[in-house]
Amino acid sequence: MLICSGSASTSLATKIQRRGETLKWLEIEKKRFPDGETYIRVKGEVEGEQVAVVQSMYRNPDHYLVEYLFIAKTLKDLGAKEVIGIIPYFPYARQDARFNPGEAVTFDLVKELIEDSTNKLLVVDIHQHRRRGVEKEFRIPAKNLSAAELFIKYAEENMNKPFVVGPDDESVNWVSVIARKLSAENTVFRKKRVSPEEVELESGKLDLRQREVLIVDDIISTGETMAKAVETVKGMGASRVVAACTHPILVKEALKKIYRAGADIVIGTDTVPSEISFFSVSGIIARELR
Ligand code: R5P
Repeated sequence: MLICSGSASTSLATKIQRRGETLKWLEIEKKRFPDGETYIRVKGEVEGEQVAVVQSMYRNPDHYLVEYLFIAKTLKDLGAKEVIGIIPYFPYARQDARFNPGEAVTFDLVKELIEDSTNKLLVVDIHQHRRRGVEKEFRIPAKNLSAAELFIKYAEENMNKPFVVGPDDESVNWVSVIARKLSAENTVFRKKRVSPEEVELESGKLDLRQREVLIVDDIISTGETMAKAVETVKGMGASRVVAACTHPILVKEALKKIYRAGADIVIGTDTVPSEISFFSVSGIIARELR
């Protein structure tokens, strides 16, 4: 199998290639024309080959999406047998319903573009709670991998009997997998989003005095959800708080906000390169490709 990347994920794709013994690197030239248009050139023979394209679509999703589509379609045009899309952070997944009249359900629009250009799809901890899961949602074979094992290992090695917290209903499954593996007590708060940058959490009463707390969420975007969750568990007496997420989008002052709320450490993965991307999902993806 050949592996290549769009400009969003060169470092992650390189790590996956190193871990997958049989993966051969395929170079893709990517440039912007002076007028802003995207230039793509596949620099290798792909006829009859399976090709994995790694492109996480964070922070600049529209450009990364277009780049991905150009690469995938060109690979097919050049005779590739199969294009495997590896999109660790799948964009627009939170806009999977028409919340207000007339809104574009952009998740569905992106989904169609991916189905049209790709034979198989791998994503990581996709934000999909109102839908049936990627296996059923996509018209191509698709799988949602999870980074949970990385946080389980972290907690086993670095925490003392952690109490596991999910900041909202949408983290229920994730919290239960992690808590079960750690045999940990756990709870899930309820969240009301007041605006894109403001949330309110409802937690009930808990005694977390002298407890180490692991808060897990799929995404940290503005940091509002995580900061409120940290503040809440600190208010309940938590002695140490680890805030963990798969996708550290970290918009603007997100990280500062979470540390100010009292987190001892904030950790995330390299689905989104960031200053807290301490863990790599490359091993999980390479294992799946094998
Ligand atoms: C949504 O429910 C997600 O699971 C995250 O909690 C959310 O996307 C985080 O967004 P923010 O950091 O902007 O609060």
